[in-house]
Amino acid sequence: MSFPTHRPRRLRRSEVLRGLVRETRLSVSGLVYPMFVCPGTKVRKEVSSMPGVYQQSVDQILEDSKEVEALGLSAVILFGLPESKDARGTLSTSGQGVVQRAIEAIRKANLKLLVITDVCLCEYTDHGHCGVIEHGEVANDATLPILAAQALSHARAGADIVAPSDMMDGRVAAIRETLDEHKFHDIAILAYAAKYCSGFYGPFREAADSSPQFGDRRSYQMDPANAREALKEVVLDLDEGADIVMVKPALPYLDVIRRVRDAFDVPVGAYNVSGEYAMVKAAAEKGWVDEKRVVLEILTGIQRAGADIILTYHGKDAARWLKP
Ligand code: PBG
Repeated sequence: MSFPTHRPRRLRRSEVLRGLVRETRLSVSGLVYPMFVCPGTKVRKEVSSMPGVYQQSVDQILEDSKEVEALGLSAVILFGLPESKDARGTLSTSGQGVVQRAIEAIRKANLKLLVITDVCLCEYTDHGHCGVIEHGEVANDATLPILAAQALSHARAGADIVAPSDMMDGRVAAIRETLDEHKFHDIAILAYAAKYCSGFYGPFREAADSSPQFGDRRSYQMDPANAREALKEVVLDLDEGADIVMVKPALPYLDVIRRVRDAFDVPVGAYNVSGEYAMVKAAAEKGWVDEKRVVLEILTGIQRAGADIILTYHGKDAARWLKP
């Protein structure tokens, strides 16, 4: 049976009809908004390569979090810019650290918003790598206890979910074990399971002041050419106790999101990263694309590929645009 019996255009005749048969319904509750916490008070400094994104002190983070909650998003993810950096990223585990204090402030304000924390060393080390350096290389096993201590400090401050983004082998197990030892069995782990070594993190490194001072991240982040290997990374992280797995970046890896979604029955996240955001903002600023339209199309595409959860700097804008 085909034309003229079948006319797919019948179901596209009006917005109500299109809404009725829509396959992917973008939901604000699946969006997570990333925020950068810096020292000081009343600080709100825009990141030049990410218009609309700010480095903010704890008091401003709290105000922003209230807005995020009011807009209907479920969660924020926090990144820290510490007062000082050293070779081992010591401040990342401090109860007095910027992220730990931001978590406490959000908790104290009794928001329903979930607090997710990025667990990594690159923002806290003077060399900018995601692990400690031994013999000129990023040392895997020596990094694990520091990551675990950082996750524990976030849990103690009141985080709901910790999200390791460092790509060291075995870090999910190390974090799970430490959390459990300290009776934080209910704190979930969102693993950046398939995190690629990507040029799309450029603007983030300005936002988080986390560029590697020598070399690159190719010895720990994944080769962009590999998809089967992503499934292996996901298996390992799930075995080690990850509750949610994530693919990052999103747009050049929609096929990977789909493969992970099809292969595993766990929640799948995708990180719509800084470079993806910056491209849209730059083109929109020039009037080359309609920002609202392309953002909603991008987020719908990421969800359609199989992501249940999307981390995105467009989160607040998208929530406003999706309001009925
Ligand atoms: C830290 C981390 C990075 C991002 C999230 N966590 C940067 C990196 O790996 O260099 C990137 C997020 C973005 O680009 O929006 N390891």
